[in-house]
Amino acid sequence: DWTSEAFIESTVARIREQVGPDGHAICGLSGGVDSAVAAVLVARAIGDRLTCIFVNNGVLRKNEFEQVQRNMREKLGLNVVAVDASKRFLSQLGGITDPETKRKIIGREFIAVFDDEAAKILRGQEKAGEVAHDVGGKEVAWLVQGTLYPDVIESSSVKGPSQTIKSHHNVGGLPENMKLKLIEPLRDLFKDEVRRFGADLGMPQEVLERQPFPGPGLAVRIVGEVTPERVSILQNADEIVVNEIKKAGLYREIWQSFAVLLPVKSVGVMGDQRTYAYTCAIRAVHSGDGMTADWVPLPYEVLRTISSRIVNEVRGINRVVYDVTSKPPGTIEWE
Ligand code: XMP
Repeated sequence: DWTSEAFIESTVARIREQVGPDGHAICGLSGGVDSAVAAVLVARAIGDRLTCIFVNNGVLRKNEFEQVQRNMREKLGLNVVAVDASKRFLSQLGGITDPETKRKIIGREFIAVFDDEAAKILRGQEKAGEVAHDVGGKEVAWLVQGTLYPDVIESSSVKGPSQTIKSHHNVGGLPENMKLKLIEPLRDLFKDEVRRFGADLGMPQEVLERQPFPGPGLAVRIVGEVTPERVSILQNADEIVVNEIKKAGLYREIWQSFAVLLPVKSVGVMGDQRTYAYTCAIRAVHSGDGMTADWVPLPYEVLRTISSRIVNEVRGINRVVYDVTSKPPGTIEWE
């Protein structure tokens, strides 16, 4: 439609002018719609001079590292550097049980990994003689972020480090004379507008409709210590929840629906074997913005299928419970 076309055209033109004929930009992808739309707009303006960075922090959903790369490269034509840093994140998370400490570690490691990669990319550009344009004696490169209008007016709406590194202007390891400036092409938009413009930019439905996923990922859905084994158990349970919710046609109307791994073991039976394994909580909420939320009365049939599939298919879980807590007083995530 017209507004979308006008927005896209004027935004692309402005970015092209800002970055100049040989400037370079980098963008961190989270797999979500905001960073993807921001990246596509910048790519329209400057093509391959935009490099996107996608980091595997070890607490993504099952196959997400591969799927996001495929979507961003093949469906959106973005130039993506994918960094598998999962070992590094998981080793830093070893032995940590405090929720805020987990968030801090993930935020800190993300910035370190991102900075490293960004500096490598920009140094490479510098060597190739394709340096950004000069402003006041400093070379300027650009950092693209998918900041939305609500983030601008109330930056407290997202707690903890999200995967967009908010107002993080200084990438360490950059050449002395290089300065990173922000491009935030979505600063005036609300989420529904981003989705609409994203659709007009050819964004796949899968990306457009994705439920929000927190920056610290599955780490805040594993109560207590995050271990590689627990991540893998939760990935398997989470995949079943998402698939069954989609199959029931409920994915789009639900704000977030997911599995939580509780470090509580209980006794069960499997055939003639006694089991002693973890508990999985199912959480599904309706919400407009994440600030308040109501638990969703999922149909019993959907809960039955989710429960029986999880206990039968996911090794390590032998009991499934349903979270019937709204926010407030509960939070959406368990940590
Ligand atoms: P809570 O659990 O506080 O979550 O009710 C509200 C919304 O925020 C998301 N959330 C986060 N997002 N980094 C993020 O990027 C975080 O540390 C974080 N913690 C919660 C949560 O998924 C929900 O949509």
